[in-house]
Amino acid sequence: MDHTTDPYAPFPPGFVWGVATSSFQIEGAASEDGKGASIWDRFCRQPGAIADGSNGDVACDHVHRWAEDLDLMAGLGVDAYRFSVSWPRVRPSGSGAWNAKGLDFYERLVDGLLARGVQPWMTLNHWDLPDALQATGGWEDRDTVHRFVEYALGVNERLGDRVTAITTHNEPWVMATLGHETGHFAPGVKSRASAMQVAHHLLLSHGLALQALRFEGSRAKLGIVLNLAPVQPATPSEADHTAARLEDGRLLRWYMDPLFGRGYPIDVLVHLGADAPRMAPRDLDDIATLMDFLGVNYYSRNVVSATGSWDVHSSGNPVTEMGWEVYPEGLTELLLRLQRDYALPPIYVTESGAAFADQLQGGRVHDADRTLYVSAHIAAIGEALRQGVRVDGYMVWSLLDNFEWASGYAKRFGIVHVDYETQKRTLKDSALWYRDFLQRRRASRRHREAIAMGA
Ligand code: FCB
Repeated sequence: MDHTTDPYAPFPPGFVWGVATSSFQIEGAASEDGKGASIWDRFCRQPGAIADGSNGDVACDHVHRWAEDLDLMAGLGVDAYRFSVSWPRVRPSGSGAWNAKGLDFYERLVDGLLARGVQPWMTLNHWDLPDALQATGGWEDRDTVHRFVEYALGVNERLGDRVTAITTHNEPWVMATLGHETGHFAPGVKSRASAMQVAHHLLLSHGLALQALRFEGSRAKLGIVLNLAPVQPATPSEADHTAARLEDGRLLRWYMDPLFGRGYPIDVLVHLGADAPRMAPRDLDDIATLMDFLGVNYYSRNVVSATGSWDVHSSGNPVTEMGWEVYPEGLTELLLRLQRDYALPPIYVTESGAAFADQLQGGRVHDADRTLYVSAHIAAIGEALRQGVRVDGYMVWSLLDNFEWASGYAKRFGIVHVDYETQKRTLKDSALWYRDFLQRRRASRRHREAIAMGA
């Protein structure tokens, strides 16, 4: 086969194709079997915090339906499943006693994945901090850094020998900025100084956890997941350029620069003034601990106007139910930029996906818009590979429709539809497309290998 016309050619044989979820968004069983409350359990109870007034008490009932859900993903033929561990399920107060039943659940999950030939990609912190730790200051308090390292070691002791990868945090920007500056997400704090201190502690705990896991001889790949995007000025005006540069600093460089040994970006530190975080002399060295991979979550680009007046519809591109512009070329652009500016380990695109207004009709969901979104973003990764960026994997957000944080259950990101009344799962057309895509890829690889062997 001519490689220039083979759409799968840029993806190397070992490329990891997966699906992703997170604990709070799918598990349910919120206070079962000794699980403690998380900051999201509390936040959901605040009037007005969640658009549809919902919570994570039942969600996709995954704690009881995990085997069925693993069968679903095995049927899709994915290589990997990215899930997260709920810290308060395994250590209810964040310190003190561990909950054996919680650890048992994740052990069943990991063993179930391995039995089905699916790589377990485990995230330690996808936002559901034990509420008891919030009571003592949460991520703003430096002690939480040490509690996180203990948590990482405890989970590693049970599962570290079987998981393919361990991600410390999912999207520290979201926890810091949406959780502590705008207050749109748990714990709902509104202080820029708190947000920056939280961001610093998240980064520090990541670095210290990596060191501790390596000291324990962890064989899993270790890394972090960041939400990143190209940031572009809405107009060529100087004011928009300045605003975009600052936003790039706050979203991307604030995390990438210290992780890759450059310390915090000076322009952002100057901008923050007294809101810059307090830190100890060794912190920046610890944050820069080498990673085995970098996880990148990509949904859209950021267009910034100094007056906040950019209209997402003005580009003429489709816009998802979240109000996010569909902009796959931004993923290529982002990957090229990361490659240009940083000495990267292999990148995995650990999330990418879209919410659309799906209709379940006659047992089918014809979500052509989502299939288009997913295939265009896969192609965008292919383009980055062609241009020399090392990307080793891609995971669709999400396997299942689930609790979309402050948007509740109204926004559906799954390639599998969930009927929240009956908990019935239905493969949407996008899931069928992904399954067929993975099958065709394998077939085309076998075909190429056969040709190479002269068969
Ligand atoms: C990301 C989150 C994930 C999901 C998607 C839509 O920011 O990591 O949990 O909510 O957005």
